Amino acid sequence: MSPLPDEVRTAIVVVAAGSGTRLGRDEPKAFVEVHGVSILEHALRGVFGAVEPLQVIVVAPAALVARARAIGEHVAGAASAHLTVVAGGDTRQRSVAAGLAVLADGIDQVLVHDAARALAPASLIDRVVHAVRTGGGDGVVPALAMIDTVKRVDGDRVVGAVDRSDLVTVQTPQGFPRAQLLAAYASVADDHTDDAALYAAAGHGILTVPGEPLAFKITTPWDLARAERLVDASDGIRTGIGVDAHRYDETVPLWLGGVYFPDEPGLDGHSDGDAVIHAICDALLSAAGLGDLGSRFGSADPRYAGAESGIFLRETLALVEGVGFRVGNVAVQVVANRPRLAARRSELEAHLGELVGAPVSVAATTADGLGFSGRGEGLVAIATALLSR
Ligand code: CTP
Ligand code: MG
Repeated sequence: MSPLPDEVRTAIVVVAAGSGTRLGRDEPKAFVEVHGVSILEHALRGVFGAVEPLQVIVVAPAALVARARAIGEHVAGAASAHLTVVAGGDTRQRSVAAGLAVLADGIDQVLVHDAARALAPASLIDRVVHAVRTGGGDGVVPALAMIDTVKRVDGDRVVGAVDRSDLVTVQTPQGFPRAQLLAAYASVADDHTDDAALYAAAGHGILTVPGEPLAFKITTPWDLARAERLVDASDGIRTGIGVDAHRYDETVPLWLGGVYFPDEPGLDGHSDGDAVIHAICDALLSAAGLGDLGSRFGSADPRYAGAESGIFLRETLALVEGVGFRVGNVAVQVVANRPRLAARRSELEAHLGELVGAPVSVAATTADGLGFSGRGEGLVAIATALLSR
């Protein structure tokens, strides 16, 4: 295994060694599929989506270590050096201990996470990492306020109400400073329901951060069906839209869609004014949920003054692919009196298709004399993009 990069200070132990008795399937729970993808793979997609670079330790059933490693490497891709897979124990606590035994040297904080919380988002992991880093030695748990009314029972009889205003339910990942967590695991013999309980039993404080409803634990067949519904609705394809308008400027050359148009007025703008490429970038960022061109490549940034717009497109594609999307197609429509695009449409489509790495269709229309575009003062480009995971 190649060594971990030095900047990796945080590890996450993903426990996936349970059998899933309550789910009642033949396979161990982490290998049961939600929408065609194993629970373990879903969980690791969240983990490898974190901004914080992590050592990722997967704890798998002893007989399935190789399969867990294959799943982990598939998700990790180029980051496979960050992945370690070990066999678990016969209780969750023993499985966590098996993961803690292979922490890399430079690690100074550790998260423990249930693979069964398959849909926990990457942002929750980053939230916990940040809270541990600033928590002064306390452990950190994600917590949700209780929604249901809570009763105390004796058998099947309600014997009292419980005030839920100071109660929360807690999730994973839970985070801790490395040295204190290892000392707590070494000192505590009895079984605890979660790592925070074990850490508290060793005398430490625990802080909460806001939890995520999506980080619910898949325990029962109902939970599995619920996860199926949620993945069905959120996975797969995303569309985005982008619009850009620029005023004509007779003193500059016209670049549109990365193609030069001689004898045409250019477009005024901080970069080269290529409204087609700017609209495409905004559509891609919009589909990926990554904001927009202005917030990503601020127009105040001197690096982009007079810049050829192809660099925005390349950087945008790197951002979009960096969060796991692939471009399906892009469509652009230009609303302008000039230039006339018909004669060069296929050239534009071919050039943009090559830049984007997916089919790009280009259409043009005029605004029937209406508004700034119709009066010939400027040009508008509108783009849509389709992305898939
Ligand atoms: N876990 C583990 N090793 C164990 C038991 C549990 O790594 N010996 C892991 C599970 O894989 C799961 C997490 O701990 O990701 C939370 O446990 P739970 O939801 O209870 O899973 P299971 O123990 O597999 O399910 P069940 O209790 O229904 O058998
Ligand atoms: Mg269990």
